[in-house]
Amino acid sequence: MAFEPKPWPRRLRSQEWYSGTSRDTIYHRGWMKNQGHPHDLFDGRPIIGILNTWSDLTPCNGHLRELSEKVKAGIWEAGGFPVEVPVFSASENTFRPTAMMFRNLAALSIEEQMRGQPIDGAVLLVGCDKTTPSLLMAAASTDLPSIVVTGGPMLNGYFRGERVGSGTHLWKFSEAVKAGEMTQEEFLEAEESMSRSSGTCNTMGTASTMASMAEALGMALSGNAAIPAVDSRRRVMAQLSGRRIVQMVKDDLKPSDIMTKEAFENAIRTNGAIGGSTNAVIHLLAIAGRVGIDLGLDDWDRCGRDVATIVNLMPSGKYLMEEFFYAGGLPVVLKRLGEGGQLHRDALTVSGQSIWDEVKDVRNWNEDVILPLEKALTPQGGIAVLKGNLAPSGAVLKPSAASKHLLQHRGRAVVFEDIDDYKAKINDEALDIDETCVMVLKNCGPKGYPGMAEVGNMGLPPKVLRKGITDMVRISDARMSGTAYGTVILHTSPEAAAGGPLAVVRTGDMIEVDVEARRLHLDIPEAELAERLAAWKPSHERPESGYAWLHQEHVQGADTGADLDFLKGCRGSPVGKDAH
Ligand code: FES
Repeated sequence: MAFEPKPWPRRLRSQEWYSGTSRDTIYHRGWMKNQGHPHDLFDGRPIIGILNTWSDLTPCNGHLRELSEKVKAGIWEAGGFPVEVPVFSASENTFRPTAMMFRNLAALSIEEQMRGQPIDGAVLLVGCDKTTPSLLMAAASTDLPSIVVTGGPMLNGYFRGERVGSGTHLWKFSEAVKAGEMTQEEFLEAEESMSRSSGTCNTMGTASTMASMAEALGMALSGNAAIPAVDSRRRVMAQLSGRRIVQMVKDDLKPSDIMTKEAFENAIRTNGAIGGSTNAVIHLLAIAGRVGIDLGLDDWDRCGRDVATIVNLMPSGKYLMEEFFYAGGLPVVLKRLGEGGQLHRDALTVSGQSIWDEVKDVRNWNEDVILPLEKALTPQGGIAVLKGNLAPSGAVLKPSAASKHLLQHRGRAVVFEDIDDYKAKINDEALDIDETCVMVLKNCGPKGYPGMAEVGNMGLPPKVLRKGITDMVRISDARMSGTAYGTVILHTSPEAAAGGPLAVVRTGDMIEVDVEARRLHLDIPEAELAERLAAWKPSHERPESGYAWLHQEHVQGADTGADLDFLKGCRGSPVGKDAH
């Protein structure tokens, strides 16, 4: 934490547009004045871009225009000049084929919006799953001072007296309908209870996980992750963040000062403690790649292995984000990690303080929500990285969401060549499958789907569900929603569409999973595996133009974060030539 603030005042990049008496300056400044800005606003004060992912079609972020008013208030108060900039909003529940395909496109467009416009710092106004990583990736690549403000989770849902967790209960209810335990009418009635306020998913799904990752990385003010969207303290957080970014610009406190290797290790351990989404693996690897930090799947296994999951939230546990906030939220978890020697206490945060200084005095107000170590949901909650001849570059599994009795398993593969094949076969009573089998789904990785959809937690066949069985081993190159659960092995790399071993698994092959030994093995002779791989040919058509083509040509494997190869790294924020 050896950060030295730069002297202030000094000339900022926005002055390349607005300072002086040249024709170009008068052109830039004059246009801005049509919004009623007085001349002295262009006197060299920090101009802060509020990068707003609001969209009517990203309902999780639907309240961000109101929240941005509080950010603006904070920026004005601190002597800055706020400018609100709408940016690409990749909604998890709307975009097809999958929002993940557009995370990199969003990051690319936002990076250029930051670099090409007269801003000195940015407030990243985010919420829904992909919005947080895409803006963090852009901020990392420009390295302009930036602070995350999250929209916050929804209030608890309730259906017939029971908590309803976003996504988690969608899977539960839909399986219950298939098993004949719930009627379609009841399912429709439950729909009304699922999203009862503004905000993001209220489980420890990907949105809450990524909000927690931003806070653990030090990129948000302490406490940002858990405050419900509609709580007045969310608006206070927005205003305080607006004040803070102005000082960050004056100090020149940049993402590269904050997102160090230690910060990523803090985030990985935090993910284990909160029982966070497997999607955090891909996003953190991609963000690290933008800052130039050497982070790999092995770091996930090494750092997360001995971290106990102590946050009792769905999908791993019982409660929702609202209760997490009342219990004290992420600062309590970070304090617990710090006390247990599992936090780099000196890691710098956007506040200018160390992460430990931010959390050392907090208290846990509900030990049933943030559990004592001896009552942890699982003593080893980090993401397990499995390797073997079926996943030479790795695959991931979330032990806290898996069934203990399946963590060591040998079973017969039942293969689905792609998601359409799965949908066509899964409800067929003649499908030769039982609960001891291993469901294998191919061609759903970054290139295969394309975009790596959240389909890895394939629903079980109805005939298995009717026996009361709720989990089976599932393996794919897909992702899984952070709100989902089960013994689901994901991100298998290299993916099938890139000719990885997953591509040549056949129904009837035996597969061995040993999570403790971190092993994923296709039990066929090595010579036969080599023969099958040599004979493999891509089975799916490739797009010939447009972004889909660009994505498929350049997307990297899940094991390195699935970024586009030409977007890795920090390109800074040099001010380009003036065209006028
Ligand atoms: Fe947007 Fe969950 S779908 S936050």
